[in-house]
Amino acid sequence: MKKNFLSTLKTPFFYYIESYGCHMNTSDTEIIISILSKNGFLLTNNLKKAHIILLNTCAIRKKAELSIEKRLDNLRYLKSNNQKIPLFGILGCLSKSEKYSNLIDFSIGPNSYRKIPDIIRLVMMNDEKKIKIHFYYLIIKMKHMKILVPIHNKKKITTFLSITRGCDNMCTFCIVPFTRGRERSSSPYSIIKECENLYEKGYKEVTLLGQNVDSYLWFGGGLKKKIKIDNSNEKIIDFSRLLDLLASKIPFMRIRFSTSNPHDMSDRVIEVISKHSNICKHIHLPVQSGSNKILKLMNRKYTIEKYLSLIQKIRSIVPECSISHDIITGFCNEEEEDHLETISLMNKVKYDYGYMFSYSPRPGTYAYKKLKDNVPENVKKRRLKEIIDLQRIHSIFRMKKYLGTIQEVLIEGKSKKNNQDWYGRNTQNIVVVFPKKLSKIGETVFVKITNCTSATLIGKIDDNENK
Ligand code: 5AD
Ligand code: SF4
Repeated sequence: MKKNFLSTLKTPFFYYIESYGCHMNTSDTEIIISILSKNGFLLTNNLKKAHIILLNTCAIRKKAELSIEKRLDNLRYLKSNNQKIPLFGILGCLSKSEKYSNLIDFSIGPNSYRKIPDIIRLVMMNDEKKIKIHFYYLIIKMKHMKILVPIHNKKKITTFLSITRGCDNMCTFCIVPFTRGRERSSSPYSIIKECENLYEKGYKEVTLLGQNVDSYLWFGGGLKKKIKIDNSNEKIIDFSRLLDLLASKIPFMRIRFSTSNPHDMSDRVIEVISKHSNICKHIHLPVQSGSNKILKLMNRKYTIEKYLSLIQKIRSIVPECSISHDIITGFCNEEEEDHLETISLMNKVKYDYGYMFSYSPRPGTYAYKKLKDNVPENVKKRRLKEIIDLQRIHSIFRMKKYLGTIQEVLIEGKSKKNNQDWYGRNTQNIVVVFPKKLSKIGETVFVKITNCTSATLIGKIDDNENK
């Protein structure tokens, strides 16, 4: 009888994994590592030792896709002469793409990570030919999401936890609803349990993740319906209740969350942020454009007037709150006056920081199919530079306000630039760098701010405050 290919290989099997894209992908990569470890696969940092090479990919912009294409080309030499090992697997949002089919042995979409060990075994056992398993499906019928949690054995201080997966918003430029599927929320009980678990293991900060955390909703497992949520129905848990419950249950754990959607953020969420000192005072509130015409084309479901009144509400209820943004420049039909409206909005808000992108059409989206990508590349580039330059000015303006103040900083690790310095973040999510003195990773210290750049605060531990 012919020997099975799997039995000719020495176990254990080593795998190597690279992660691209957003925090959600970083968190998914930790989950994938946990699933593979539980199934006897061993993680290696040595590409040449790996039997399996995994890339957890991102499809949000063309640029992200190109960098993965380039990486695959660089890795191609590892599989010369048509040999079977290493197996190449594409995970994440690009798993649907057919582009890399001559190199890739399997692809697994973001909703199927639990199947990774089975799929790897299946591909390994087939020694006749490469198997292309496209195990991508959307869990449309699923009413809620069973929480996937990583095994946390690395000594880390901060971590991410996905509370929702997928997105129902259908912004016309965005590929996420197509790659990650319909939105599902995890049960609040599993989220609270996992956060308590993390705290017991020594974590000091957790960031709750979702494409749109404000639409988190738990009906005790029932179907999501459109109803008014007030304090009378204890069974229904929306994002404000989840935050409130979590912050009360684990009062010494810092809680962050991302991403907030201006259309869905409720006053109750803002009030809960102000009520609990352990909920960090930072909101990432992507606006995407300062023009109502463009917001409509993007299907963002709010106007600039509504957005500004939300900002005003945040600042009146939580005055110390930092606010960051995402902006896309050069979206379909964006004219100079739309761009100037974005600039005017930025001048009004003076964001603490932000992420700015030039529009890239993504196959499958409404904008790709129905709208014209009609802003020339050089115009997109110029507008992008203008908003990046403006944001730098606003960031410096905001950072200077911290000079001379004392900031409570959770120490996360060594500064990249100087071994003698720690880096950590204050509640506003601003990076603070300072000399170590006798402090340790995981401690919260008070730091007097003496200097700043547009992205970093620089200071020294304040001995009086830390007594
Ligand atoms: N082109 C450019 N930027 C995009 N983003 C999402 N899709 C696109 C696209 N097609 C940006 C949005 C979003 C962030 C995560 O990525 O600003 O908020
Ligand atoms: Fe994409 Fe819009 Fe959903 Fe964000 S809210 S993931 S931009 S569709």
